[in-house]
This record gives sequence, structure tokens and C-alpha cells, in this order.
Amino acid sequence: MEIIRKNKEIMTEVNRIAEVAGYLWTKGWAERNGGNISVNITHLADDAIKALPAIAPTRPLGEKVPCLGGHIFYVTGTGKRMRYVAQAPFENGSIIRVSEDGSSFDIIAENPIVPTMEINSHLMMHNYLRSIGRKTTVVLHTHPTDLIGMSHCKPFLNSEHLTRTLWSMIPEARIVVPKGIGIVPLKIPGSMELAYATIEQLAHYDMLLWEKHGVLAVGDDIIDCFDAIDTMSKSAQIYFNARMAGYEPEGMTDEQLDALVPAFNL
Ligand code: 13P
Ligand code: ZN
Repeated sequence: MEIIRKNKEIMTEVNRIAEVAGYLWTKGWAERNGGNISVNITHLADDAIKALPAIAPTRPLGEKVPCLGGHIFYVTGTGKRMRYVAQAPFENGSIIRVSEDGSSFDIIAENPIVPTMEINSHLMMHNYLRSIGRKTTVVLHTHPTDLIGMSHCKPFLNSEHLTRTLWSMIPEARIVVPKGIGIVPLKIPGSMELAYATIEQLAHYDMLLWEKHGVLAVGDDIIDCFDAIDTMSKSAQIYFNARMAGYEPEGMTDEQLDALVPAFNL
């Protein structure tokens, strides 16, 4: 659709989404259709884009998202593969508009691609963050093998213990993910239960681990969200490599970790 293609800011953002989709695939975090992305592009859309007619039947949401009335998002499609989102973002995702009352959404461009099954989690996360005054635009969900692996070990289903372990592997982990990582107990993918459990944790963290399923990062920039997950994944790999080599990694001490706080304004 010309009107979207002519909007340089939206196309730049969609190209960045495609870039990250490619990273998710090459990282091995996006088997088949694993993972999904939503990005709020309302601030980039002009009035003509905001007024585009629906190109598919209106879809109800499981829970109202009143802070997102009229907002426009790029969302990856359900069942779509990240390696193809990278090549053709508009054949593997769509632009949607939330209704004014926040109870439903319409697909408005470019193709009638049905959004991810996690649409309720994504929009409820965007809605919650707006409700507390944050201008967060990105929710990135992916399936990093190493971090999911850690969620199969009971002691790591404690957020404090998991965060401390990952932070202590390399200084970057605490610098890049200063709030640490929250844990969301296992729920059925795509369910409202998963969405509600996710929102509960979002008050404290910008990165969440869905037990035995995947990871989510929220932020203002999709590259930063990718980097945050990549850094924690790196820490998980250092931990597992040490264990596989037969030793428990020493980790940084509390003093060494705390010294990062003033040094990097955390
Ligand atoms: P979708 O293909 O519907 O986005 O589902 C993938 C996924 O990762 C579910 O959590
Ligand atoms: Zn998933």
C-alpha cells in the first residue's frame, strides 16, 4: 500500500523490526513460528494512515486496553516465521489500529495477516506501561534456548536467584539489564492467564522469562530490546559452559556487582 511505503519513518522502523527478526532466526531463538514482535508506531503515523479502513473483520480483545485507544502497531502474524519476517515484514505481519474504547482492533495494512496469538499479552503490556506513564513502544518475545533451559531448574525460577546468577557472569549483564529478569509461571501460550500473569511482573522488570517457554523484553527501541536479551543469553551460555566443563562458575562478588551501580549510574 503506497501510503505506508511513502512514510519514511514507518518504513525505517519496519526495516529495524525486520533486521531484528533476522537476528532472532540466526541466533537459533526462532524455531518455526517461535516468537512475536509488536511495535507502537502511532507517533510515526499521519492522519491518513490513522484513518485507513479495516481490511479484515474487527477482532475483539480478551481485556480492554483503554490507554491504547486509536493507537497503531506493527505486529508479526500468527504462525509466521521470523526468518520470513526478516525478508518480507508486510507478508508476515500487519499494521493494526486499536478501537477508540480499547476493546478490539482492526487490521488496516498492508495485508490481512492475523496478529500473533500473544496479541493480548502484547497489548496488555503496552497498555500497562502507558498507564504508568511510560512511553514504551516495543514488546519483543523470543525463544532463547539457554534462558529457557535455565527455567527448567527449580532454583532459577526465583527471580532474585536467576538475576544474581546471570548478572554475576559478566559486568555487561547488570549494566544492560539493571532491573534484572522477572519470572512468569508456565501457562498455556496465547492464553489470557498468561497475559494476566505477565502484567503482574511488568511492574518490576523490563525483561521477563516465561517458564519453559521464552523471554520478553520491553523498551523504546527494538535493537535495545534485542541487545538486552542477547546479553542475558550470553550470561546463561557462560554459566552452562562452565557447568559442562565440570565446574561451578565463580561469578562476580556482591561487592564487584555493586561497584557497577555508581560507575554506570544504574
Ligand atoms: P505466534 O506464531 O502466534 O506468534 O506464536 C508464536 C509464539 O511464540 C507463541 O508464544
Ligand atoms: Zn512463544
